[in-house]
Amino acid sequence: MLRTHTCGELRLGSVGQTVTLCGWVNTYRDFGGLVFIDLRDRYGLIQVVFNPSKAEMHEVARTLRNEDVIRVTGQVVARPADMQNAKLATGEIDVQAGELEVLNKSKTPPFFPTQTDLPNEELRLKYRFVDLRRPEVQQALILRHKMSKATRDYFDENNFLEIETPMLGRSTPEGARDYLVPSRVHEGCFYALPQSPQIYKQILMVAGYDRYFQLAKCFRDEDLRADRQPEFTQIDVEMAFVQQEDILSTIDGLMKRLVKDLRGAELQTPLPRLTHREVMERFGSDKPDLRFDLELKCLGDIAAACDFGVFKSTIESGGRVRGIRVPQAAEKYSRKVIDELTEFVKQYGAKGLAFFRVKDGELDSPIAKFFNADHQKAIITRMAAQPGDLIFCVADTFKVSCAALSALRNRLARELNLFDPQELKIAWVCDFPMFQWNDEEKRWDAEHHPFCQPVDEDIPLLDTDPGQVRAQSYDLVCNGYEAASGSVRIHDSAVQQKIFNLLGITNEEAELRFGFLLEALRYGAPPHAGVALGLDRWVMMFLASDNIRDVIAFPKTQKASDMLTGAPAPVDLRQLRDLHIKVDVPK
Ligand code: AMO
Ligand code: AMP
Repeated sequence: MLRTHTCGELRLGSVGQTVTLCGWVNTYRDFGGLVFIDLRDRYGLIQVVFNPSKAEMHEVARTLRNEDVIRVTGQVVARPADMQNAKLATGEIDVQAGELEVLNKSKTPPFFPTQTDLPNEELRLKYRFVDLRRPEVQQALILRHKMSKATRDYFDENNFLEIETPMLGRSTPEGARDYLVPSRVHEGCFYALPQSPQIYKQILMVAGYDRYFQLAKCFRDEDLRADRQPEFTQIDVEMAFVQQEDILSTIDGLMKRLVKDLRGAELQTPLPRLTHREVMERFGSDKPDLRFDLELKCLGDIAAACDFGVFKSTIESGGRVRGIRVPQAAEKYSRKVIDELTEFVKQYGAKGLAFFRVKDGELDSPIAKFFNADHQKAIITRMAAQPGDLIFCVADTFKVSCAALSALRNRLARELNLFDPQELKIAWVCDFPMFQWNDEEKRWDAEHHPFCQPVDEDIPLLDTDPGQVRAQSYDLVCNGYEAASGSVRIHDSAVQQKIFNLLGITNEEAELRFGFLLEALRYGAPPHAGVALGLDRWVMMFLASDNIRDVIAFPKTQKASDMLTGAPAPVDLRQLRDLHIKVDVPK
C-alpha cells in the first residue's frame, strides 16, 4: 500500500504516530510561512501542515494546486484548542508533513468538487470524474451499494436464487421501444436488449426455480423524464406456487429490511393495500403521494342540482365534478396566483378551474351566484371546509379530472410545504384494470402486459364488459413515484388465448412474438407471480432526491447521450459493412 491510513479515520488517539496519507488537494492556503492543505479521499478530509523549516519540501508544497494528487508522510499532532474545527471529523488534529511526493499534477478542472455554486449538469456529466468526487454524489453511490447488498442478503436468507438472464435476446413486451443489436453472423437479424427479464423469469418458473431474483439491467428507448433512464436497474422477482398476497408480503419484508439497514428505522408492515379504484377517487392518480391529505371529493350530486352550466352539463354528459380543499389559503392565493393555477391545470386538459373562498357558512366566488344557500352549505360540508379555506373544482371527464386535480394536488403540497421531503410513505395499489381502451386504434390495450391473470370473479366479464375486468396486478407507490410493479401471471392457455383475442393479437401473431413462452407454458407451468422494483428510483427516494441521474455513476442526459464518452456515436464504415448495415439519415 502507498498509504498507512485514509484521510477520514485519524483522531486524537493517533497523536504522535507517523502516518502516510494519499489523496487529492481539496483546498490550499499559503500563509507565506506555513502552507495548509486539506487532503481529501472518499473517506474524508484531513489538514496537512508544511513548515518552512523543511525548505525543499516547503518549496514543492507551494506549487501544489487543487486536485493535485499527493502522498504525504508526517506526524499526527493535536491542534491548539482555538484552532480545532468541530465541523470536521478529523478537526482536532493535523498532520505535520515530513515528506511530500507529488503523485500527479491535475489540470485546472472546469469546476471544483468543493464548489457550492455548481455549473450546469451537462458540464458536470462531461467531467463526471470530477463530479463523482463530490461528497453528495459519493453518499448516493454508497447508499446504492448498501441497498443492493441488503437486497441480496434478504433474498438469499429467504431461499431465493439470483440467476442472470441474457442481455442479447428477443423483444420483451413491456411497451417501450427496444434497443437493437445487429447480428454479424445472421445477416439482417437483430437481438433486442431486455426491457425487463419478464419472459426469462417466467420460463425459470416453468423450469422449477421457484424463488428467483436478480438485480437486472433493463433497457428502454422511451421519452426520458427526471425519474427515467434508458438503462436502469430492476430488483426483479418471481415466485412459483404463490398467490398475490405472497408477493406483497415478500416485498413488505424487503422494504422493512431496507428501511432498517439504510435508515435505522422501523417500517410498519404490512404496508397499506389500496385498490386502484380507491386511489383514483381519492387522489386522481395511480401513484398518489400519500405524505399529505388534499384528497379529492366528489361534488357530482350538488353540481347536477346547481345553476352553473359548466358543472350541470358535465354531469349530464357522464363526466365528473370534484374538488380539493386547501386549508387556510383563501387570503394567501390572490386572483393572479389562481389564474396561474388555472393555466397549469389546462396543461392537463382541464377547461378551467373553478374556485370558492370559504366564508362563515357561505362561499365567495365569481360563480357563487349559481349556487343557492343550500348548495353552498352542501359544498362546505362535503369538503369539510373551514372559514378561510379555498376550494378548487374541475368539471370534466373522469380521466381529465384525475390528471388535472392530481397534478394540482402535488403542486399545492409542494408550494405549501405540506410534507417532509425525507419521509417515505409507501403503499400498494392493487386491482388495476386489465385493459385500457385505445381510442386511436379502436381496440383494447393491456394495462400492464398481456400475461396478467384477471381477478377470478371478473373472468366472465371478459366476454361482456372488458373495461370492467380487474387484473391481479399491483404497484408499490412511494412519495408519488411508481416504485414497483407486478402481477400474478396466467398459466392456463385457454385464459391466455382469450386475452390475446381481446387484445386483437391473432394466434399466428402470438406464436410469432411469444411462441417460446407459450410453448414453455404448455410443459407443466406452475401458478406463478412476480414483481420488479425500480432500484434507481428507490435510491432516489431514500435520498429525497428528485433526479434519477443523482444515483447513477454514469447516467445519460434527457436526450439519452453519455456526455463523458460521447455515446452514441457514428462508427466505421467497415464495422457497418460487417453488420450488413447501410445508414440512411436524411441530411
Ligand atoms: P415495469 O415496466 O412496471 O414492470 O417496471 C418495473 C419498475 O421499474 C422501474 N422503471 C424504471 N426506472 C427507471 N427508468 C425507467 N425507464 C424505468 N422503467 C421502469 C419502475 C417500475 O415500477 N416485468 C415487469 C415487472 C413484473 O411484472 O414482474 C416490469 O418490468 O420503478
Ligand atoms: P366561464 O363561465 O368560462 O367564464 O368560467 C367561469 C369560471 O369557471 C372560471 O373560473 C373558469 O376557470 C371555471 N371553469 C370553466 N370551465 C370549467 C371546468 N370545466 N371545470 C372547472 N371550472 C371551470
